[in-house]
Amino acid sequence: MHITLYRKYRPSTFDEVAGETDIIRTIKNSLREDKMSHAYLFTGPRGVGKTTTARLIAKGLNCITNGVTDTPCNTCENCIDISKNKFIDLIEIDAASNRGIDEIRSLKDKINYQPAKGRKKVYIIDEVHMLTKEAFNALLKTLEEPPSHVIFILATTEPDKILETIISRCQRYDFKPVSYKESSEHLKGIAKLENIVIDNESYKVIYEKSGGSMRDAISIFEKLISSCYGESITLEKTEKILGVIPEKKLNEFLEIVTKNDVVVGIEFLDNLWNDSVNVEEFLKSFAYFLKNQIIANKSPFSLDKSIKIIEEIFEVMGKFKYEEDKRLLGYVVLHKITVLENQNNNSITKEKIVEKVVEKIVYIEKESEASSDNSKTPTPPIKKEKTIEITLDDAINRWSEIVKESKRRKMPLISFLSTAKPIKVIDSVLHIGFYAENRFHKESMEKNHYNEVFLGVLKDMFGGVVLVSYDLLNDHNKVIEEESDFVGKVVDFFEGELI
Ligand SMILES: Nc1ncnc2c1ncn2[C@@H]1O[C@H](COP(=O)(O)OP(=O)(O)OP(=O)(O)O)[C@@H](O)[C@H]1O
Ligand SMILES: [Mg+2]
Ligand SMILES: [Zn+2]
Repeated sequence: MHITLYRKYRPSTFDEVAGETDIIRTIKNSLREDKMSHAYLFTGPRGVGKTTTARLIAKGLNCITNGVTDTPCNTCENCIDISKNKFIDLIEIDAASNRGIDEIRSLKDKINYQPAKGRKKVYIIDEVHMLTKEAFNALLKTLEEPPSHVIFILATTEPDKILETIISRCQRYDFKPVSYKESSEHLKGIAKLENIVIDNESYKVIYEKSGGSMRDAISIFEKLISSCYGESITLEKTEKILGVIPEKKLNEFLEIVTKNDVVVGIEFLDNLWNDSVNVEEFLKSFAYFLKNQIIANKSPFSLDKSIKIIEEIFEVMGKFKYEEDKRLLGYVVLHKITVLENQNNNSITKEKIVEKVVEKIVYIEKESEASSDNSKTPTPPIKKEKTIEITLDDAINRWSEIVKESKRRKMPLISFLSTAKPIKVIDSVLHIGFYAENRFHKESMEKNHYNEVFLGVLKDMFGGVVLVSYDLLNDHNKVIEEESDFVGKVVDFFEGELI
């Protein structure tokens, strides 16, 4: 029969419990001196040894060979029955599935009977915070005056939900997540017994994935064992099997961020994307990675900046929760966590979309600079006025003047308009053309707060409202029509942020 490793290796003595040393020491002392309390409350995250320790207490109280002991023999009938979880005087109630008053009532009814085979009846109530209010109250009564042959061990992952009146009647022990050292040492013990060859790096990955739960660490380890078919377990295989982001990549990204290299950063993110790495997962891993760097005092940034970066990542992830194109997340995070001073885009060739985003980022930077000084010209309101008709020649002749004045009124307009030109006037509408690679500029111009300024300039120069259309051109100067969701989303995001 297949038996899961974490069951197989549930500690059968106190010394096999990884971590929680203070708790284990105190409990061992109480057992040795036969001075156990009548009620305990074990709190802590999942899979760190609460139930395990509770069962060990049951053994320590009921071992036939050694009497009440901190070193149960594990060979007497009672010890064996407890290991097999079929000892009659060990009663485990899972409050998560038996929330009701009935269970606690029947517990109250039977509690006065003497133990059948052992010295003490041990009641373990798991997930005790799940009991209904009535059940809680019934339990409280029992806890007030339990018979001397009974001990209660209440366990919970959510101590905040437990009434103070219950807590005050129990001796409380807060179990903590296991540390990396405790986890890896415990796993090494199992590896030795199971004849598994595994490298040290893999233990790190397992630990990260386990989040400090020993049960999860053992389960993950087991998954690796069964996926490696008796071959040795290496970091590379581990990362692949568990689908975790290779640490190499995280280091690479860290370096990019350290160097403020947005352009390389965007290329890096695009490569991840092309390698079908989930960008959101990557950023999340990066946040944890950075957290660990902070803890190990290895972060290249100040504590403030390190935390700020982590903060930004989670904030952007929240904002983009429903965004399908997760690349966007990467770009925005990158923008937020880098300082964009030394950007020089001229010499770089990269995917068009990447270009657009980098440009946008730079403009946003300029824009916010411009709006933070007070010399900004207020946008003239566009009233319902008579439209006038201008000729294409009018527009072409005064184009540089138009661009210059637009720039004076709103800084980013220079960047958008410098790649544009008047191409035709049809039905009184002046068409301004942008080449396809400057789609982003066109879409920016279509945004209200840029468009309005531009129309204001035209109106003042030509003495009336000019109707305008922004068009995309192909290489042969022909107008093309095409939708780009992605760029639109980038723009929207930044716009939303600016307003
Ligand atoms: N501290 C530990 N040392 C060694 N093994 C542990 C430890 N904690 C958990 N384990 C392993 O994980 C399994 C589950 O542990 P246990 O049932 O004690 O966790 P728990 O804290 O009660 O979790 P839950 O809150 O989910 O009930 C055990 O069988 C054991 O293999
Ligand atoms: Mg448990
Ligand atoms: Zn025994």
